[in-house]
Amino acid sequence: MSRKRIAVLASGGGSNLQAVLDHFKQLGDKRAGDVVLVASDRPDAGALRRARAAGIRAVTIISSHTALGDELEAIVERHSIDMIILAGYLQLVPAAVTRAYAGRMINVHPAPLPEFGGAGMYGKRCHRAVLASGVKMSGPTVHFVDEVYDHGAVIAHWPVPVREGDDEGTLAARVLRAEHLLFPRVAQAVAAGELPLLADGRLGRPYFRDDAAPPPFDPELDDDTLGRQLDAARAAQINAQESRIPTI
Ligand code: GRF
Repeated sequence: MSRKRIAVLASGGGSNLQAVLDHFKQLGDKRAGDVVLVASDRPDAGALRRARAAGIRAVTIISSHTALGDELEAIVERHSIDMIILAGYLQLVPAAVTRAYAGRMINVHPAPLPEFGGAGMYGKRCHRAVLASGVKMSGPTVHFVDEVYDHGAVIAHWPVPVREGDDEGTLAARVLRAEHLLFPRVAQAVAAGELPLLADGRLGRPYFRDDAAPPPFDPELDDDTLGRQLDAARAAQINAQESRIPTI
């Protein structure tokens, strides 16, 4: 199977971009894609610096932040991009691009959807809304992207506990750690073609089984252990899928 050519769009520091790069490196020949391009609406984005440091082409998209750069549509076409990852990208992606990449574009949101999403719900505002609501669980949601902010089919959500005394910063840091473990794994599955999106916008197959979802994120555990929990939950779904395939 040929590897997908992936573009990552990011407006900020790019820690999720880094998590994807690190995970793909760790997967080695098993990785289903290569990040060949990082694009940002902010010329000073840390994500662009991370891309250059990794030897990946880094470009600026024309936007409200910069008068220089190209339109996103032209950029992804020029670089023969197969899949797009939004990793902290704050601009609405033009409908022409979301349509062309339906089922091939994913985003990570730092809170449950649809409850804590939509226009203007990003960064600290998201965590503030979660804290104000009094819910006991937050956590990252990875979803396909359509032309509405935070709206496409949810692929995976990992509950992260909200702790007594949390503020926006402490909650954001805990959720971000969970994002770095979940998002690259989902990116790999999408790149590998394991998660088809149906024509009606629903997910063809779940990422996790409802009855075998990973335990809630436990901040006391180390990343390797947490990663194994995610992998075990994903394996449960793959096994269930395969056991449904009729054998002759
Ligand atoms: C993350 O919290 C992500 O959920 C949101 O934007 C933030 C990006 O952080 N979409 P980083 O630039 O990846 O560090």
